[in-house]
Amino acid sequence: MSNTEHSTIYRKDYRVPDFLITDLNLNFILGKKDCVVKAKSVFQRNQEAKSNSNELFLNGENLELLFVAVDGSELPASRYRLEGKGMVLIDMPDSFVLEVSTRIYPDKNTALEGLYRSSGNFCTQCEAEGFRKITYYLDRPDVMARFVTRIEGDIVDCPVLLSNGNLVEEGMLEGGRHFAVWEDPFPKPCYLFALVAGDLIFIQDEFTTCSGRRIDLRIYVEAKNREKCGHAMTSLKKSMAWDEEVFGLEYDLDTYMIVAVDDFNMGAMENKGLNVFNSKYVLASPETATDQDYLGVEGVIAHEYFHNWTGNRVTCRDWFQLSLKEGLTVFRDQEFSSDMNSRPVQRIEDVRVLRSFQFREDSGPMAHSVRPDSYLEINNFYTVTVYNKGAEVIRMMHTLLGAEDFRKGIDLYFKRHDGQAVTCDDFVSAMATASDVDLDQFKLWYSQAGTPELTVTEEWDVEGQRYKVTLSQRCPSTPSQSMEDKKAFHIPISFGLLDSNGNDMELKNALLELKSAEETFTFEGIHEKPVLSLLRGFSAPVKVEPWQSREQLAFLMANDSDPFNRWDASFRLSESVILELTSVLQQNRQAVLDPLFIDAVRRILTDRESDKSLLGMALSLPEENYLAQQMKVIDPDNLHLARRFVRRELANLLQAEFRAVWEGNTNRGEYELTSEAMGRRRLQNVALSYLLAGERPDQSDVDMAMEQYENGNNMTDVIAVLSAMSHCDIPERGELLQNFYEKWKDDVLVMDKWLILQASSSLPSTLASVKDLMHHPAFSISNPNKVRSLIGAFGGNHVAFHNSKGEGYCFLADQIIDLDSRNPQIASRLTTPFSTWKRYDTVRQKLMKAQLQRIAEKEGLSGDVFEMVRRSLDT
Ligand code: TRP
Ligand code: ZN
Repeated sequence: MSNTEHSTIYRKDYRVPDFLITDLNLNFILGKKDCVVKAKSVFQRNQEAKSNSNELFLNGENLELLFVAVDGSELPASRYRLEGKGMVLIDMPDSFVLEVSTRIYPDKNTALEGLYRSSGNFCTQCEAEGFRKITYYLDRPDVMARFVTRIEGDIVDCPVLLSNGNLVEEGMLEGGRHFAVWEDPFPKPCYLFALVAGDLIFIQDEFTTCSGRRIDLRIYVEAKNREKCGHAMTSLKKSMAWDEEVFGLEYDLDTYMIVAVDDFNMGAMENKGLNVFNSKYVLASPETATDQDYLGVEGVIAHEYFHNWTGNRVTCRDWFQLSLKEGLTVFRDQEFSSDMNSRPVQRIEDVRVLRSFQFREDSGPMAHSVRPDSYLEINNFYTVTVYNKGAEVIRMMHTLLGAEDFRKGIDLYFKRHDGQAVTCDDFVSAMATASDVDLDQFKLWYSQAGTPELTVTEEWDVEGQRYKVTLSQRCPSTPSQSMEDKKAFHIPISFGLLDSNGNDMELKNALLELKSAEETFTFEGIHEKPVLSLLRGFSAPVKVEPWQSREQLAFLMANDSDPFNRWDASFRLSESVILELTSVLQQNRQAVLDPLFIDAVRRILTDRESDKSLLGMALSLPEENYLAQQMKVIDPDNLHLARRFVRRELANLLQAEFRAVWEGNTNRGEYELTSEAMGRRRLQNVALSYLLAGERPDQSDVDMAMEQYENGNNMTDVIAVLSAMSHCDIPERGELLQNFYEKWKDDVLVMDKWLILQASSSLPSTLASVKDLMHHPAFSISNPNKVRSLIGAFGGNHVAFHNSKGEGYCFLADQIIDLDSRNPQIASRLTTPFSTWKRYDTVRQKLMKAQLQRIAEKEGLSGDVFEMVRRSLDT
């Protein structure tokens, strides 16, 4: 296929389907080399459809057609036509039963969509459009059918045969084969279909719902992973209880199954009653998983479970509505994690992701609204904008309506739409009706792309004891939406005013609603000049032009009653210090660290009262990828030097304080997953990373780190040593990497960490070692986790990737081209670091552009990569 054949799909072109499918019977005959799929479906003309064409197009790709019949008789060649992406049925009656048999080759399926094999086991991934690689069908989410699935396979290779819903029959067949039949009583779109067949064991538990029903819970894994499922199971039960308590939502089938596979394009998939997970989000033990991994498992298990209502019971009308299920479900999993762990820590983590990745997407060639208007390849729209900004949009509604009315809105949404495929507008409409809040202007958050930018001006009138704050908003142009055409957003702004003692002044209302381009808010009876704490809890996904002095930021760091803004003040202060030093270095001037900043850091290090997680987070400087976006012309080398200078200066000047924090927080006893214990580890390990910040740190600190590596009883403490040391040019670095490899070479998930460490190193030798690792037995180009860990992490290594000679660019382009023919989804995601090419100096721009062009010219490029590269080049 040539690169010009990719066509754009527009939201405005949505039409209801001409036919609906009420029932689907699937029969999978799993063989040694292939699989035969027999599908029998009941079609009915859709009363709501305008067209009365009697031709019907069915999606189908990479299928070998064996047989097609309508109402029991085989179709003559004149009644159907095969096309590149499907089959046209000709002269169809208003209702009929279609039987199709196809042959597919799961072993050859390297794209990991449709039916494929992972570690020898069969599994499926049908979202978004993978079902068309299994059989000819109406592969669109607004066609919902009842599925009955029969699977037959070899009893030795596939002792376990699973699909959605309830097991209704199983039995033996001749020749060492057996079968199972599953029935899902809930009509569903085909993207929620799943099949798993293979040699797996399961751990089992149960959950009693609020109405007293007992649900059988099972997690299926390879036998060697049996001991690593406990945390996932606990997380599942907590999710079930939380959704009943907070949203009043009860589980609806008698069984809930989760299967872990090593080869998976994304995190996990919410198939009805049978979730398929990337094993990274199921398996955890203290020796092999970090605190972040444990939280990741809990969050993703919750996310997929919550989809049962927000996604499955009510699904999307079309893929432009993807955020209807994803934004809402991310919001729900964030709230769940906040309730299970620390709310401020969760919020800070979520905002860091949003600022680093979503704001970057929103300011580049891939910028799109939460509900996009067009796409070429839907797989490219599973983005931080649809997911994370989508969740912020839901969160803003929660803020504007209040928890109680928000819940009323959710109840109304389910009352109106249970069992339907609906739109983002339907969701907002339920919210508005239930709460009586006008959300018309608010809906611009769904249609306008780009991150709004706020400016703040303050005025305090001593005479009148009056304080005024003027807020203005603008939203930069994004592809196909110019700045002039954008209307003002409805922005909820939580805030506080601090008096000179650092206490909150009393206010009638802690929420401002900015609805126009500029607005002035006046506060009477303000007796002294306040310090403004704006956007508490990050109440809206916006950028604020820096307007406060470093003194004010230090004051907020020390005093703000809102823990998010306390942290945010430290973030903004560090940002201003590093960016200033970057320009000092660019001008070859002498770099000096601001004493005010040193003092602020000293105060954190000597704080024995505050939450340790929050202290640890306040010590973690903004990442280079984030800081780069704040520069007019990105200068990766000086940015890196400036950030490193800050870390080393702090480590030198405050060495005693860092050591005291390290020693005062060493691990004692059993590994515990409490917020308190996680906070202690975070703070301790941040201190360690500073102590090793030099290329050649003090030997005493190195020895201390080696001791932590030897004695650590959990992966968090162990990997912290390796991670800090990965940037040091000392012999211990190589020794530890080797030791770690020998110890963990049989554990694929731990090996991912080993690859990430090396690909993320700031040492100049990084590209060379990444190239070597491509041939290492720990790496595999066919496994998405490995590709992300090595190639993906390298692309995110700002200083190494942007090496001024362009060698990093060339390497990444080579890998994208190579991967594209194997797995387009994964190849496409690797293009992200190229997308911001226009933000760099002219030399780097030229180098990056040349690589983008080289990719674009590749014959037979997938739509996935083509779309990303095209958009980048078109800016
Ligand atoms: N719906 C899944 C989720 O968010 C996302 C997902 C899993 C996905 N696998 C995929 C999306 C493959 C596109 C392609 O939970
Ligand atoms: Zn999801």
